[in-house]
Amino acid sequence: SSESKLQLVHKHIRAFPDFPKKGILFRDICPILKDPAALTAVTDLFEEHVRKNHPQVDLIVGLDARGFLFGPLLAQRLGVGFVLIRKIGKLPGSTVSVAYDLEYGKAEVEVQEDAVAPGQKVLLIDDLLATGGTLYAACELMKKQQADILGCMVVIELKELNGVDKLKPHKLFSLLQY
Ligand code: PRP
Ligand code: ADE
Repeated sequence: SSESKLQLVHKHIRAFPDFPKKGILFRDICPILKDPAALTAVTDLFEEHVRKNHPQVDLIVGLDARGFLFGPLLAQRLGVGFVLIRKIGKLPGSTVSVAYDLEYGKAEVEVQEDAVAPGQKVLLIDDLLATGGTLYAACELMKKQQADILGCMVVIELKELNGVDKLKPHKLFSLLQY
């Protein structure tokens, strides 16, 4: 059941206090990747959500770096392509970029100009939503590409940072909330 899959995923998330900076409680998803059943459960739960709510999706768009762990598995299940949004300076050819603030720093994300065609229906995926700065910047990038943004998906949503407000009007689907 979905409930037992969520429990399995939950069991494979660890918390590390004061990483990478004092005051940050870091949610570590590495144990999910180490356990095939837990990784399958994550993919199942995302797949169920997309088939039910966004069957028209054209592309899964994943965020550097941990969105790359879950996104391609989901895209393969759905039979659609996967696009990489990367930290600045990693992608060859013509690119589009957007700068943003992190819970613990500053960054800039980039996508290849020809990654998404105007009007394509995209779902963005990452491991975790904190302040929402990263996914917000990714949505801005998709807007520059004239993509049709169906929504954002994460394994973990940190509720107290209200990242979901920053993403509005785009929808957020999260497997687990802390
Ligand atoms: C983390 C996480 C999200 C982002 C969430 O990535 O994987 O991408 O922060 O934070 P926000 O909602 O406040 O923007 P990080 O920037 O640490 O980089 P990494 O994926 O390369 O480890
Ligand atoms: N990215 C931003 N905040 C984070 C947190 N608390 N745990 C893991 N990744 C993060």
